[in-house]
Amino acid sequence: MKKLFFFLSVLGIVCVSTAQKPEIDKSKYPPLVTFTAQEDHSNMMEQLGIISVRPGPSGNENAPNHANYDESIADPCPILPEILVTEKGKKVTSAEMWWKQRRPEIVELFESEVYGRLPENIPDVTWTVDVVDYERIGFTPVVAKKLTGHVDNSEYPLIDVNIEMMLVVPANVKGPVPVLMMFGRPSFPAPAKPGEEDMAKINEAFKKLLINEDPSLEEVFKQYPVYTPFEYENPFARMMRRTGDPSPTEQLLAAGWGYATIDPGSIQADNGAGLTRGIIGLVNKGQPRKPDDWGSLRAWAWGAARGLDYMETDSLVDATKVGIEGVSRYGKAALVTLAFEPRFAVGLIGSSGKGGATLHRRVFGEAVESLTGSGEYHWMAGNYLKYGAEEATFGRKTGCDLPVDSHELLALCAPRLTFVSYGIPEQGDAKWLDQKGSYMATIAAGSVFKLLGAKDLGVSNDYLKEEMPPVLTGLLDGQLAWRQHDGGHTDAPNYSTFIPWASKFLDYKSVPVRGMGRR
Ligand code: GCU
Repeated sequence: MKKLFFFLSVLGIVCVSTAQKPEIDKSKYPPLVTFTAQEDHSNMMEQLGIISVRPGPSGNENAPNHANYDESIADPCPILPEILVTEKGKKVTSAEMWWKQRRPEIVELFESEVYGRLPENIPDVTWTVDVVDYERIGFTPVVAKKLTGHVDNSEYPLIDVNIEMMLVVPANVKGPVPVLMMFGRPSFPAPAKPGEEDMAKINEAFKKLLINEDPSLEEVFKQYPVYTPFEYENPFARMMRRTGDPSPTEQLLAAGWGYATIDPGSIQADNGAGLTRGIIGLVNKGQPRKPDDWGSLRAWAWGAARGLDYMETDSLVDATKVGIEGVSRYGKAALVTLAFEPRFAVGLIGSSGKGGATLHRRVFGEAVESLTGSGEYHWMAGNYLKYGAEEATFGRKTGCDLPVDSHELLALCAPRLTFVSYGIPEQGDAKWLDQKGSYMATIAAGSVFKLLGAKDLGVSNDYLKEEMPPVLTGLLDGQLAWRQHDGGHTDAPNYSTFIPWASKFLDYKSVPVRGMGRR
């Protein structure tokens, strides 16, 4: 039986864990605080002196408290914070002034009021390559590496953080290749299966084991002499069976790009109860956040930057051409990553909405109040709650009191490649996301791209006048780009535009190599 169990575990059919962890003496550390999201939210309100926050609007248009969808009242404070004027009122006229004065001012405001700061004492991450698999995705041979970023938890061993990432690079082109890192669940795309001869060996051994376990099976196998418990599959048959449009990852590989998927949940949970756990909890030794501590978006962005640290050590990857991608809450995370980590060369920001590319101060669909309620506040710094406060020691505040807005977050990405992507409400990319508010922010951000010698959307920077281009009309001539596809809450339909756009600006053309390439 033991032998059979071992055999199945080798085949990946059962999992055996042998690692024994040493006992931790919990009395040596501050006890881990366990809060519900509601309790953590209340704790933050108390720290901030907030008595009540306004409830967020309902996404259901038939509900009495539904979100505003009336354009005529969507801009209660239409004039955005000046992007190219310093806090002292000086006009920013040179790239040097941007980098030395204005950009740091904007970073400081986003850190203190919106997304939170990275703590000074974040522990180191050590990456291990756990499995390397040589696979075929469609007709493309690839190398797939399963990686783990182990965060040093020696200061607080009550919390374990292990970042999970999968890196997949094409093996049929000359490397190193550009890579698009995506927030999502890492899995092997097409696990390689044993070849015909190996499979025959496995079957023979397996049959022997089974007969050992139950000798009556010998007769059964005799009756079906050609039967094999595990069937060999011709890899080419698998390729031929493939139908439908190529997926985003297949398109990337076909263009000679690699991709990585990084698991946000392995960095930081997507809920308020998790704020005393994950990387945020580890640094805080299991205690609740302070008002300017980082939220989940910033934590996910930090994790992505650690993934990029790994890429810098992998000779298959051109670490100067690594992008970051995400949709919805991970679209917000992708934008925060690109804004704060200058080593990322490109971003595909999918349907990011409030807290992402959409203007906070606009009141259309999702509101600041949606992000300050107990369901989504964990994405942000605690301080962000102030802007949803109805009653507080500091008075009442709204989105109009925010000293920064999303046009400035987009500007932090300049002059790097920034592609803002949306779908259409008719197909499920809800009005809730406020596509127009994102367009306005992208328009306004353009002035910084131009100041730094890059190109913006190619229209004016007058965000109050410019109209959104028709669906499927990409504004793709610059390092800052916009395209609304005709699909739903996804960025997949924009890959066929994004890949050539990014390859052009990164000056990348894949060069084929013969056979299995680097294998
Ligand atoms: C909700 C939330 C959005 C978010 C979206 C998602 O709709 O209000 O801010 O982008 O979920 O991530 O799916």
